This record gives sequence, C-alpha cells and structure tokens, in this order.
Amino acid sequence: MALKIYPSLMSADQLNLAEVLRMFDQECAGYHIDVMDGHFVDNLTWGPRLVNTVALATDRHAWVHLMVDDPTIWIERFELPAGSSVSFHFESPCDLSSVIKRVKEKGWRVGLALRPKTHAEEVSGYLGVIDHVVVMSVDPGFSGQQFLPGVLTKVDWLKEQREKHSHRYLIDMDGGIDRENIVEVASRGVDRVAVGSGIFKKDDPVAALHELQRLTAGS
Ligand code: DX5
Ligand code: ZN
Repeated sequence: MALKIYPSLMSADQLNLAEVLRMFDQECAGYHIDVMDGHFVDNLTWGPRLVNTVALATDRHAWVHLMVDDPTIWIERFELPAGSSVSFHFESPCDLSSVIKRVKEKGWRVGLALRPKTHAEEVSGYLGVIDHVVVMSVDPGFSGQQFLPGVLTKVDWLKEQREKHSHRYLIDMDGGIDRENIVEVASRGVDRVAVGSGIFKKDDPVAALHELQRLTAGS
C-alpha cells in the first residue's frame, strides 16, 4: 500500500486554515495536528479548542500528536471523530498503560511516539496493545529541522517485530521529511508520514504534496 502522507498543520498558514482545508481535503488521507505544552518541549501550538474545531471541519482523518507531560489532561478535552489517531510520547512522565487505555475508551487509535534518542526496543512491552508507533526523525518541538537518517534502523526492527509476533501496529515517521528523503522512508516500509515544511514552505503546497505522492506511489 502506498505511503500515506499527512500534511502537518502547524506549518500551514495559521491565518488561513479554512482555506488550507479547502485546498487539501480532496488531496490527502488526513492531517497531522501537533499539540505541545511548553514543558515536554519548548514550544506551543494549538489548544484543544482549535484541534476540535479543525477535526470537525474536515472529513479527513485526524492524527493528533501530543508532545506533553500529561496526555490525560488533553485527551479529556478533545472531541475527535471515532477512529482518529492519537499519539503520545513514550518519554512523557505519565502512566503509559492508563493513557493507552483511556485513548481506546474514547474510541480513538492510540500510538506511542519515540524521540530520536529512544531505542525502539524500549517500547517492546507495548507493541501488542498499540495501533501505531511514531518514529520521530527530528527532536520533537519545531518544524523545519533536518531529517535524522539514523532512525531508519528502528523501522527495520519494528517491521521485524510486527511480523514475528503478528502485531498490527502501523509504523509512522514524523520530522524533516521532504522530496530528498521520502523515497527512502517509503522503501523502508513506513506506513504514514507527517510532513510540514516539505509541503507548506514550498511556493505551491498542493503541488508539493502531489510530488511527494507521485514519488512514493509505487511504495
Ligand atoms: C515536530 C512536529 C512535526 C512537525 C513536522 O515536533 O511533531 O509534526 O510539524 O514538521 P517538518 O516536516 O517541517 O519537520
Ligand atoms: Zn508531529
């Protein structure tokens, strides 16, 4: 199946989000929405009200990426369609199992995201109970950073484990993905990617998405 490309909305023109959705709704599988708390990472993006507003304004799939210390606070304030993806960080100082349980109770698909320095083996105890793993290819917090190719070996390991144990999780990647590296990312077997600057910092963002889709069409 071809790699699914989710435009990452923190990089889009924030004054024209309705227009962004209008231009992209027919073009993409879904949107990646970053939520930060200024503590787990040194940045802030959208609060629950804007996340909910955008998720309701589109019929595309929502993939929310929490970069926060306490995911529970945010989860309780989200109103997302059933089947939305909610990722939170393995490194968040919280009770991972209860957050996983709570996301599932909400009717959403749950995933763990890994900072570049976290080894994939560290999450092995959770691989049977989550719906996706997000391999971060930059340090979380900011768009426009350089892709870290060293994280690709985690994809190989996660694929091996998925096959060996008949797990069903998707393998996602987020950060620094653009036309220079997306073919390699797709060929390693990644299922979904979030792309910010590689789409929204280009002169024609829709054409940039089309180019990334064309480059990975056979993957
Ligand atoms: C970074 C965010 C990413 C970011 C990607 O912490 O999680 O989703 O928006 O932006 P680019 O593609 O520019 O790295
Ligand atoms: Zn993200």
